[in-house]
Amino acid sequence: MSGSADRDKGDNPAEETTVEEKAAPEVSQKMIPVYVMGRRYEVPEGFTIMKAMEYAGYKFIRGCGCRGGICGACSTVYRKPGDYHLYVGLACQTVAEPDMYLTQIPFYPANRANYNFEELKPAPEEIFKLYPEVFRCVACNSCTKVCPMDVQVMDVIAAIKKGDIAKAATLSFDCIQCGLCASRCMGDLPQYHIAQLARRLYGSRIAPRADHLEEAAEAVRQGKYNKMLQELMGMGIEDLKILYQEREIEPEMAGEDWQPAEKGYL
Ligand code: FES
Repeated sequence: MSGSADRDKGDNPAEETTVEEKAAPEVSQKMIPVYVMGRRYEVPEGFTIMKAMEYAGYKFIRGCGCRGGICGACSTVYRKPGDYHLYVGLACQTVAEPDMYLTQIPFYPANRANYNFEELKPAPEEIFKLYPEVFRCVACNSCTKVCPMDVQVMDVIAAIKKGDIAKAATLSFDCIQCGLCASRCMGDLPQYHIAQLARRLYGSRIAPRADHLEEAAEAVRQGKYNKMLQELMGMGIEDLKILYQEREIEPEMAGEDWQPAEKGYL
């Protein structure tokens, strides 16, 4: 993320032009003041924090990824006028409010254990060994309150302490690794790294193998799709576009028994 000068000052015409092209508001659109890292900007009402910052002249070179609330790159902390609470949110999802004071935390430094995953056993002791701080949790639940994905973070940690890796993995499935939980933890736990290890152990060593996945992988190994891939690789870009546009798409609300017309690759 890099910031330009205040729009009102207009001391970088080139950047100003880029900003206008990106997010020109409707003429009638109401403007609201926001403070980014202490500096005041007027931005269109209804913009997300991310769009508001871009409108203000910031260019994201970090702190922005999917723009859809799933990559966890755009953690933001803010305060509202007359309110002592510290709020958090994803800049790409949170709508800017008048007079909010904000800054982004695109990366949160947190202890991340070094391990050779292949050598790890699917046992809670492995997590305890790598992250002994898990027992520093005082169950204050700040991590849960701060999570923009509504993950029950404290319950994830409680499950790990009880040795229930499967439960920890399931409860933390929606974690997007933004790191905000660690930012508020009075026990200094890196919850998101700990939960990620639980998910890795569960997915790799504990969850039952899916037969259909094994079958599909074996079909790939046996070369079932080689001919089709060769044909695709031999096609020109325009033909590929047509093929893509005319592809059969599974209908919404398709039943479990839905099958494509071309069954050769099932
Ligand atoms: S940019 Fe990916 S979550 Fe906001």
